[in-house]
Amino acid sequence: MRVAVLGAGGREHALCWKFEQSPGVKKVYAVPGNGGTENNVPIDPSDFPMLRKFVEQEKIDLLFVGPEQPLGAGIVDYFRNLPVRVFGPDRRAAQLESSKLFAKKFMKKYGVATAEFWQPANQREAEEIIRKTRGRVVLKYDGLAAGKGVYVCDNTEQADAALQNLYETFGPQAPVYFEERFYGQEISLIGFTDGNEIRVLLPAQDHKAVFDGDTGPNTGGMGAYCPVPFCTAGRLEAINREIIEPTRCGFQEEKFDFHGLIYFGVIWTAEGPRLLEYNARFGDPETEVLLPMLKNDLLELTLATLDNRLPGINLEYNPGYAVDVVMAASGYPGKYHRGMEISGLDKIGGDQLVFHAGTVHRDGRIFSNGGRVLNVVGHGSSLEKAIASAYEAVSAIQFEQAYFRRDIGRKGLL
Ligand code: GLY
Repeated sequence: MRVAVLGAGGREHALCWKFEQSPGVKKVYAVPGNGGTENNVPIDPSDFPMLRKFVEQEKIDLLFVGPEQPLGAGIVDYFRNLPVRVFGPDRRAAQLESSKLFAKKFMKKYGVATAEFWQPANQREAEEIIRKTRGRVVLKYDGLAAGKGVYVCDNTEQADAALQNLYETFGPQAPVYFEERFYGQEISLIGFTDGNEIRVLLPAQDHKAVFDGDTGPNTGGMGAYCPVPFCTAGRLEAINREIIEPTRCGFQEEKFDFHGLIYFGVIWTAEGPRLLEYNARFGDPETEVLLPMLKNDLLELTLATLDNRLPGINLEYNPGYAVDVVMAASGYPGKYHRGMEISGLDKIGGDQLVFHAGTVHRDGRIFSNGGRVLNVVGHGSSLEKAIASAYEAVSAIQFEQAYFRRDIGRKGLL
């Protein structure tokens, strides 16, 4: 099969890496890919007519969609009657990610354990909600915002500033809403779904804040690890009962055309699990630890999902733990420089891996080309060993103004 992975991040490099190990895959393209991927094709994954030309020219059999934008824009609907298979939900089901309010209404309708939410009609009502909750809220923009549409607030000053920021970024009519603020450990559960079944992979944990100790602004993710010791069998059972199973029933009731991945962003509160959000795709950086741990052939899993054969699939994993430390450009998620030459990549070996994100390949050299630059992954029989392996690999890699968190995975040791 000829496979094209759509997207340009670490997640997509990890997907290409995994597909290349499938005996059934003849060639893997990355669209547009990055400095770490091969067979890069400079097409915007949301430019469907250009994508169609490429699919026809290169006789692509499978489009595996990494990021959310093409799904929200209806890539599955666009290619529905064309001779290529597209992995992901159609536009209606993708609203579980592209419209956070659609998702909240779905959660309420099907009894998925989640936070209370309030939808202000205008700025005056928004300010009223902030006063009433004393600013202990999560403020969200209702749309795709590349990680910049969510503000977690603990007091009225923070919530007022967040509201102001959202209106400045997305305009004074921006659809925003508030959610009850929860405190607790977050867990990412990502499942293959064919609209009837959901088969979740190992629990993973992202590190969204830019600084150690989960402080500073949110980013696209500064690192991840899996599995998560905090997510015991008992907790997983509760998550399944209160979140995953009601979601599965909702998918069936709504007759969603959803052959892809459903991501559950869960928080474990004093009252048990609550769903913070759905995504309709693999998480980034979770994919960079999940795929190295997964033993199954990714092509087989993808085709089983597309052909409604998920019940016959047995998910298998490598033993131990995987830890991903993101090396970013200093200043990210704010302003940062690009074009820094990266050295030391040739020193990475054994079961250490590097998945590129914001990089570009020029004349045999690799340069930084984005905020999140590299995902450096270590593996170990214990979480401690996996953390040590990841940081050993990080110390071998250099580029000017490199920044990374020093506490990735530490929450899993507590
Ligand atoms: N790691 C969070 C996300 O992919 O949205």
